[in-house]
Amino acid sequence: MAWAAGAGLAAGLAANFVRKAIMQAPTALAGDWDQALAQEHKAALALFDKLEQTEHATRRAMLFAKLKQALSRHAFEEENVIYPALRDHGAGDRAEAFNHDHGLVKQYLFDLGRDQHRSDWTTKLREFRSLFEKHMREEEEQVFPELKAQLSEDENHAVTMAMNKEGLKLA
Ligand SMILES: [Fe+2]
Ligand SMILES: [Fe+2]
Repeated sequence: MAWAAGAGLAAGLAANFVRKAIMQAPTALAGDWDQALAQEHKAALALFDKLEQTEHATRRAMLFAKLKQALSRHAFEEENVIYPALRDHGAGDRAEAFNHDHGLVKQYLFDLGRDQHRSDWTTKLREFRSLFEKHMREEEEQVFPELKAQLSEDENHAVTMAMNKEGLKLA
């Protein structure tokens, strides 16, 4: 009996590990940390686009849950690894400004998730998308390349590994 329960638990843990690995795979396979985060930005924009095009309640709920999961994991990776690295390399003000944006992202996710039938839902989603787009452009075009250039190859590799480890926790 006990062995059966143990085997069941082991199989469950293995299945969970595989599921997490699959969820994290696009990030882990994208290469360096900055490329992986850019890849996640792109995937989030694609979800915003799909959401804008759908009025169907169930599909909207499903896509919105996906967007929330993707952005939460993305923020977790940045806040636990990338922004601390920014603070360590003289860009604390940028880290704080980005953290503030992440707070707004959570607010949009909360507001849009609470009432998915409101008439101005898509208008609010578009506002959310422009905030996200401005934020990701600052990261991708300015702040992340500056950080990457300040780090050695080994340090960049360590950041990539640490970021994937954080991502796996929420995958
Ligand atoms: Fe961010
Ligand atoms: Fe980002």
